[in-house]
Amino acid sequence: MSIAAAEILPDKRVTSFVKERRKLLIDGKWVDAASGKTFPVQNPATGEVIAHVAEGDRQDIDRAVKAARRAFESGAWPRLTPSERGRLVWKLGDLILENLEELAELESLDNGKPVTVARAADVPLAADLFHYMAGWATKIEGNTIQLSVPYAPGVKFHAYTLREPVGVVGQIIPWNFPFLMAAWKLGPALATGCTVVLKPAEETPLSALRLGELILEAGFPDGVVNIVTGFGETAGAALAAHPGIDKVAFTGSTEVGKLILQAAVNDLKKVSLELGGKSPNIVLRDANLDIAIPGAASAIFFNHGQCCCAGSRLFVQQSIFDKVVEGVADRAKQIKVGPGLDPDTEMGPMVSESQFNRVCGYIESGLSEGAKAVAGGRKRDGKGYFVEPTVLVDTTPDMKVIREEIFGPVVTAIPFKELDDDLVRAANDTVYGLASAVWTKDISKAHSLAGKLKAGTVWINCYNIFDAALPFGGYKQSGFFFFNVKESIEIYTQKKSVCAAL
Ligand code: NAI
Ligand code: MG
Repeated sequence: MSIAAAEILPDKRVTSFVKERRKLLIDGKWVDAASGKTFPVQNPATGEVIAHVAEGDRQDIDRAVKAARRAFESGAWPRLTPSERGRLVWKLGDLILENLEELAELESLDNGKPVTVARAADVPLAADLFHYMAGWATKIEGNTIQLSVPYAPGVKFHAYTLREPVGVVGQIIPWNFPFLMAAWKLGPALATGCTVVLKPAEETPLSALRLGELILEAGFPDGVVNIVTGFGETAGAALAAHPGIDKVAFTGSTEVGKLILQAAVNDLKKVSLELGGKSPNIVLRDANLDIAIPGAASAIFFNHGQCCCAGSRLFVQQSIFDKVVEGVADRAKQIKVGPGLDPDTEMGPMVSESQFNRVCGYIESGLSEGAKAVAGGRKRDGKGYFVEPTVLVDTTPDMKVIREEIFGPVVTAIPFKELDDDLVRAANDTVYGLASAVWTKDISKAHSLAGKLKAGTVWINCYNIFDAALPFGGYKQSGFFFFNVKESIEIYTQKKSVCAAL
């Protein structure tokens, strides 16, 4: 990494956005936190403070929930037709595309991810999600039901179901895809007619705040979307526990997911959780290695391994193990690590010092327990939270690097003899169940394995393929409920049965 590269300046619109102290969006207005407090936001490529953001807490959450309740129950929002609501959601998608470059640079500056990735993936996917969800606003339907009530002989009934918006939703999102996660959460909530209090991650609050400006520009009524920046233990916890919230949607660590569930118990709030992963990525001996090797590398190194679905346990059939590991290790050594805003950068820094320390701690733990690094494995000195892309071999199933989510560019490569029950058991031997992949030319083997893997997604000869129309969710401790598509319309609506005697 060259010093000049670290000093690449963002677009003027980004510079002026970060220069101003950013406020909370409550009831259609930008306001300071009740406490007047702010917190600093860092550029993870340098560790320097780039912005100051209002530090929302319990009182601000309470104001935001009340605004969201008012907006849900009265005013312009519930009076809009589904078509009008859908058009607002569509317009938000358009505004994102119109501001694509600025949003990509802001995301890169705040999160550390390469601007080339934010420009090609994060921001267009977010726009696409709003465009996709806009169409659902007019397609929310119930059904009619034929009754045969045994104790009401001769009575005819007209029975049907309605789907109504679930209400005021608290949404808590992580820092790995800050803008895209905001879109994933807001899209279905807005399409169904809910109102929202969104709490972005404290590491990366900036792009959600810019999105707040676009929400106002699109013309959403006041209070429909409220954005409260602040810390998890304070603002996040207050949101999850607030009695005025009907549903909580959370993406983040499994540990905090459990706290969210506990906080929801008192009022039996609806909860949807998208949590961690330790996904098996399986390469069979008949795989096309020209695609499997770069695919396995990208499965773990995309977004610096800070992906809930990262292919962090790479299972490779014995006879091709050395070749695949060497190929992935070569790729790891070639990856250009640098500041996200450098157009040549392929991998940026970890999002924060604590994530950097966490990932380095896992690498040290693996090495001290006897694993060997065939690429990376060393701490990088100097400014910024950069971690070397790392490939570990000689692991055992009980090591922390095998059992726990690292959430960094660290893959463990594990040989296996045959495609048998032992392989399936090893692949499923994790508390998580988010994603998985199989690389093979034999479609029968691929589909047979797909049926046995306990994971919400199975990719075959590809990895990290996302689409607004493709469901995404988890088995086991990776969470519940699927996201995107029809399922998210279902989890943001409440079913109601209506039964009339004729
Ligand atoms: P986290 O789960 O603490 O943070 C995610 C969000 O939850 C943030 O908005 C945070 O402010 C909020 N939060 C934290 N504590 C809360 C609480 N008590 N009540 C309500 N909200 C709360 O994740 P963290 O600490 O940033 O990262 C730790 C590890 O979690 C990572 O190393 C990774 O393993 C995992 N993680 C998984 C993600 C995923 O996409 N599945 C995303 C982020 C982290
Ligand atoms: Mg945390």
